[in-house]
Amino acid sequence: MNKTIILESRPVGKPKLSDFKKTKDEIPQIKAGEILLKTAYVSVDPYLRGRMSDAKSYAVPFELHQPIKSGIIAEVTESNHNGFSKGDFVSGLLEWKEYQKSDGSGLLKVDPSKAPLSAFLGVLGMTGLTAYLGLTEIGKPQKGETLVVSGAAGAVGSIVGQIGKIAGCRVIGIAGSDDKVDLLKAKYGFDDGINYNTTNDLNEAVATLCPDGVDIYFDNVGGHISDGVLGNINKFARLIICGSISTYNETTVPVGPRVEPLLIKNSALMQGFIVGNYATKFPEAVKQLAIWLKEGKITYSETIEEGFDHIPQAFIDLFEGKNNGKMIVKI
Ligand SMILES: NC(=O)c1ccc[n+]([C@@H]2O[C@H](COP(=O)([O-])OP(=O)(O)OC[C@H]3O[C@@H](n4cnc5c(N)ncnc54)[C@H](OP(=O)(O)O)[C@@H]3O)[C@@H](O)[C@H]2O)c1
Repeated sequence: MNKTIILESRPVGKPKLSDFKKTKDEIPQIKAGEILLKTAYVSVDPYLRGRMSDAKSYAVPFELHQPIKSGIIAEVTESNHNGFSKGDFVSGLLEWKEYQKSDGSGLLKVDPSKAPLSAFLGVLGMTGLTAYLGLTEIGKPQKGETLVVSGAAGAVGSIVGQIGKIAGCRVIGIAGSDDKVDLLKAKYGFDDGINYNTTNDLNEAVATLCPDGVDIYFDNVGGHISDGVLGNINKFARLIICGSISTYNETTVPVGPRVEPLLIKNSALMQGFIVGNYATKFPEAVKQLAIWLKEGKITYSETIEEGFDHIPQAFIDLFEGKNNGKMIVKI
């Protein structure tokens, strides 16, 4: 039998296990021009929370009682398609199913001899692209500038900080535990870090660690953490609004300080970022990330949960900060 995870109810506030349901059906039969895929690794990502709600956004909402989709690495176990052979591995936006068929649309072959398969969901996949393109296209880092990264020990944030160091920036990360702050410095080469859970005055903490002010802010979390950073921006600062995980589970519209005067006073740029808008730059970005990875200039962490049934819990754990680097479920 073939297992599937469907969206049983739209989460209200923090997602719960009961918002998801496991169903079983037959393993599909493939026709001419189709392949059978066996799921190997599933990416769980904070942005999926937005698709579980029916509010209008840049991506269409998941339908109730239908399978959830995310980035998946799968093995081709049967092929009636000229472009794919049994034993190939592919990545794509696929359904949370153990087995599924495909006509190959939207799938990319991945080469397990180039990097571990899970890396194609992280540093060499959507999260690496987000870090690279958000920072280079909007942040435009210059040597000697100060870069602050929130969600710094996560999949995107940990790569952003390392690219910032390659660009010659002073890099400060904000994360949710002392262990994560230690990791930022010891593993990813950040200059310093702030544990937002033990810091009363984030504005002051950022000011202390950024004596020359903040030139670039790569924001993965939004909310009061960002309020603390914004009080320290320099003239011509660039604020990359990549994610807002601290507000994804809010049931009322969050309010905070008005940012307009700060942006005007500092001639600062605040720009929302969606990685899909930069698709034409994906090949050059992946090429650069792969070179840095090979040269040992960047590294990455993964939290790998095991078992198909654990996908919903791994997703929920993102909102508790239980991951270091990319959260992945190995099937
Ligand atoms: N715009 C795009 O194209 C794009 C693409 C990819 C990702 N994103 C966004 O980028 C952000 C990071 O994504 P990711 O895949 O790299 O996830 P991630 O950072 O690996 O995982 C989420 C992390 O968020 C932190 N977090 C959870 N709840 C929080 C809260 N209330 N306040 C502050 N931090 C909280 C946790 O770390 P701590 O322990 O430090 O709290 C957790 O580990 C997300 O907001 C995501 O939506 C955007």
